[in-house]
Amino acid sequence: MTTISVSPETIGTTPGPFSVWPGSARPAPGGDVTVGGVSLAEAADRFGTPLYVLDEDEVRERCRTYRAAFPDADVIYAAKAFLCRAVAHWVQEEGLGLDVCSAGELELAVTTGFPPEKIVMHGNAKSPQDLATAIRLGVGRIVIDSTCEIARLAALLPVGTRQQIMVRVVPGISAGGHAAIRTGTDSQKFGLSITDGSAQHAITRILDQPNLDLVGLHCHIGSQVTTVKPYVLAVRRLVGLMARIREQHGITLPQLDIGGGHAVAYRPGEEALDITALAARVRTELTDGCTRAGLPVPHLTIEPGRAVIGPAGVAVYHVLAVKRTGDHTFVAVDGGMSDNPRPALYGVRYAPTLIGRHTSATPHPVTVVGRHCEAGDILADDVLLPDDIRPGDLLAVPVAGAYHLSMASGYNLIGRPPVVAVTHGTARVLVRRESLADISSRDICL
Ligand code: LLP
Repeated sequence: MTTISVSPETIGTTPGPFSVWPGSARPAPGGDVTVGGVSLAEAADRFGTPLYVLDEDEVRERCRTYRAAFPDADVIYAAKAFLCRAVAHWVQEEGLGLDVCSAGELELAVTTGFPPEKIVMHGNAKSPQDLATAIRLGVGRIVIDSTCEIARLAALLPVGTRQQIMVRVVPGISAGGHAAIRTGTDSQKFGLSITDGSAQHAITRILDQPNLDLVGLHCHIGSQVTTVKPYVLAVRRLVGLMARIREQHGITLPQLDIGGGHAVAYRPGEEALDITALAARVRTELTDGCTRAGLPVPHLTIEPGRAVIGPAGVAVYHVLAVKRTGDHTFVAVDGGMSDNPRPALYGVRYAPTLIGRHTSATPHPVTVVGRHCEAGDILADDVLLPDDIRPGDLLAVPVAGAYHLSMASGYNLIGRPPVVAVTHGTARVLVRRESLADISSRDICL
């Protein structure tokens, strides 16, 4: 259970309740909290709820932390965590590249001015449109995820052009916070297995295609990975494969991409991946492994998504109803699984906080639920909120920047919430609320 109360002495202490908030979070008069110098209560008033607040400086600072930890590597932001034009712009300004997995993400980024050569395209089943868009816009690297893609991509390339590609391999490592986000073993859909030789077979076929320029290997072992060890093991296995490729084909691959998946803490006291330790251990393994194999050290790419944007976001909801059933208390808010499906999908636990008023009421275990028509619409089970919680109260949920809105749905036609960027005391809408007019305008025939 998570005990939550907003008071000056709890902010900034580790692992106090505010340890998982953006670094700019401060207590404000009347139980309010400011993020990026903006009052959340005022933002809720001005923009309505549910509302997603994104701390621009936190995102930028996280990009800088990665650049500092991995000065010689390409750090590319995994757009699937959350993408809008402003975010594409921020990460570009901070010197990051971009990982996209659809024509949509790619087109949005490039039409915002993101340099296509700094973009990597992923996808276990890229559509003809994905591939055509990638070629048309001149994406830097395309990651081959199945043998079907090899001839398809080669055939789509205009005569006389070559496309840089990588091959996504499965290193046979189980890591990640939930079965649905573990991608390092043969029992899931991504990548080509090293164990059964599919990766080696794909590489032979790629080398037969003169317009495909194989520049390296890729892997992404999973998400919410809390320790460095699985990455080190992945590097070892991929360097081993690079050595075998050189033996068999006489080519030395110049690049290695080890994906993202770096864990963040969703609740105070939870473990986050130590990025500095990751950088040091990966660098050592890469250098030692390549020296042992007599290979030059390849250029490294990493692809963090969640750890760049997750902790920069705060979701703000109004309480609509409080229901006491037997010994259970349900606190229902004006959003739910349509803006945050993560508790329902992965059993992730959050730390909602009452903001906007002071109370001395005793904390009491409650279940924070959404307004959707199903019992599984739970945002936070078994959390402590003050006993006098009531309709009209504001609840803030930290670590809401990644895989909330990017996974938002149209369930119950509620409309997706807006995203407001905060920085230096100002707030601006990046993505507006989805209105009923937006929704009904797509529904065009009886
Ligand atoms: N690179 C590749 C190839 C990926 O597939 C992913 C995430 C990333 C990088 C970035 O991973 P991150 O650093 O954000 O963990 N919806 C799930 C997460 C799915 C991750 C999918 N791939 C969740 O809400 O936890």
